[in-house]
Amino acid sequence: MKLLVFLIICQRAIHSVKTHSASNPNVILLMADDLGIGDLGCYGNRTLRTPNIDKLAEEGVTLTQHIAASPLCTPSRAAFLTGRYPIRSGMAAFSRVGVFLFSASSGGLPSEEVTFSKLLKQRGYATALIGKWHLGMNCESSNDFCHHPLSHGFDYFYGLTVTNFRDCKPGQGSVFLKGVQKTLVIPIQIAGITLVSLAIVQYIGLLKVPFQALGYCMIITAISLAVLIFFFYHFRHLNCFLMRDHQIIQQPLSYENLTQRLTKEAVQFIGRNSDAPFLLVLSYLHVHTALYASENFRGKSKHGLYGDAVEEMDWSVGQILDVLEKYNLTDKTLVYFTSDQGAHVEEISSSGEVHGGYNGIYKGGKSMNWEGGIRVPGLLRWPGVVQAGAYIDEPTSNMDIFPTIVKLAKAQLPSDRIIDGHDLMPLLQGKVTRSKHEFLFHYCNAYLNAVRWHPGNSESVWKVFFFTPNFSPEDSNGCYDSHVCFCHGGFITWHDPPLLFDLSSDPEEKVPLTPETESRFYEILRVIHLAVDNHTRSLHAAPDQLSWNNLLWKPWLQLCCSSLFQSCYCDYDSEGSLLETHSG
Ligand SMILES: *[C@@H]1O[C@H](CO)[C@@H](O)[C@H](O)[C@H]1NC(C)=O
Ligand SMILES: *[C@@H]1O[C@H](CO)[C@@H](O)[C@H](O)[C@H]1NC(C)=O
Ligand SMILES: *[C@@H]1O[C@H](CO)[C@@H](O)[C@H](O)[C@H]1NC(C)=O
Ligand SMILES: *[C@@H]1O[C@H](CO)[C@@H](O)[C@H](O)[C@H]1NC(C)=O
Repeated sequence: MKLLVFLIICQRAIHSVKTHSASNPNVILLMADDLGIGDLGCYGNRTLRTPNIDKLAEEGVTLTQHIAASPLCTPSRAAFLTGRYPIRSGMAAFSRVGVFLFSASSGGLPSEEVTFSKLLKQRGYATALIGKWHLGMNCESSNDFCHHPLSHGFDYFYGLTVTNFRDCKPGQGSVFLKGVQKTLVIPIQIAGITLVSLAIVQYIGLLKVPFQALGYCMIITAISLAVLIFFFYHFRHLNCFLMRDHQIIQQPLSYENLTQRLTKEAVQFIGRNSDAPFLLVLSYLHVHTALYASENFRGKSKHGLYGDAVEEMDWSVGQILDVLEKYNLTDKTLVYFTSDQGAHVEEISSSGEVHGGYNGIYKGGKSMNWEGGIRVPGLLRWPGVVQAGAYIDEPTSNMDIFPTIVKLAKAQLPSDRIIDGHDLMPLLQGKVTRSKHEFLFHYCNAYLNAVRWHPGNSESVWKVFFFTPNFSPEDSNGCYDSHVCFCHGGFITWHDPPLLFDLSSDPEEKVPLTPETESRFYEILRVIHLAVDNHTRSLHAAPDQLSWNNLLWKPWLQLCCSSLFQSCYCDYDSEGSLLETHSG
């Protein structure tokens, strides 16, 4: 930390800031999935090789306190695209599951939300989303595409509408089976016992149960079970597919050269738009499980398949930077690199290999509001406009990209709603030294979990937890033997008074402060409670996009590129795919 502060002072002294007219740049937003802040060379990793991402840091700004709006994919990405806390758009769950799991569920980013892509498109930008979306697809029919990227301001889409899953790659295990078994076992047992007892009662004539009702009951139970079993048995074919615009081009998706294909799409998009302003969101599947890497990278890193995947992603970033250079667009392009949340520290493969990344000194990871879950890499490069080689230690958020690029494109910020992000340009250009984020609210799904306060007149960064996940770093099973931490009930511990940390002196969140160790303890809590009241008053109820009804698999929303009886198979994407037959 001390070194960092020293570096900042040095940087500020060295770099006098040039201020060209800064408008209408091309914008490239690179987002990794589940990448830890400790996985990158520019954030201190000495064994993983990420020279291309490090180059962004050398030639641009490194944000050291860049905070994801949520420690989970779906809400974090909703906040990123809209500049608003996910609770405002109904993209924060009240139930246990906080992300979309199925391509055929009805929840998603509501069309009333204004994304940066919509606003930039209106200003004449060519817009593309390549890679993972994870913000829904359809509402009522399998072709209304109400939540699809093309309905949210993107002209072009190539990628996955849901996310990468272990279940999509044969031999990589399942994130569902354990949960499904756990969840279904009890209802099945209850239903079975009830039916059997009813049948016995009926048989011995103790009670007259209407026989027909009993029959219907059994039929409905049997059909529901059959549908569920069918679905999970065919998960890979039904849920893992690649689309181009509204068309499925590969079902189930193949991991063969997948990063090469995403990169090629991105490079071609830049090539097609080299003389008009463009917005490219390249949303990597790396480094979410199922992990994969192409032949050139497999077995090459010092950190197993996880490291191979990080290094392959870095290669891809290099390809993007090279093509900017090739078209002489480097100086006209703002490039951003981040991760949607911290590394998923519980990810261990069935053979015991570490499949989750490294969050450096920070505690916890994905699905938790400890710093490890939300403090993500944040790199911004725009040569000649933003400072080169600078470090900014102030709190910033992934919601800040929204107002930043909307202003750069000279588009109008929506005035009918609260935008929680702040324009980053004054900080990036060194025109101001303080972030406008005096408070940041850290939600676990829809539940306010913690608050960060960086008082305007002090270097302290207070962080208060109202509850904490029952997570112990020593236990490789993470939260209560669960794959991720949940946000309520027996999964958490409430604290009264709340836990208080000063991140400026204790970034590892090791030692909670007490009224004895911090004389301003109650004063800090009082100010934070006032801020919470003000924040809570600014929220308006929004339809819950992650309700069970919106999360569940709806067979009538299922997309299938061949008939269901040909088990939803097609491949128009592999090299030579039209000549190839299905090769398992
Ligand atoms: C670099 O990243 C790898 C992979 O996540 C991790 O295992 C390792 O501890 C990190 N090394 C350092 C020095 O940070
Ligand atoms: C490259 O772009 C810069 C401005 O960004 C311009 O000054 C320069 O002339 C261009 N070079 C070529 C070879 O087009
Ligand atoms: C109250 O909340 C609104 C909405 O988030 C915000 O714009 C405003 O700055 C807050 N006021 C105070 C005093 O914190
Ligand atoms: C993957 O890419 C490599 C190198 O570009 C190529 O040799 C190989 O044929 C590709 N594999 C498939 C299945 O397309």
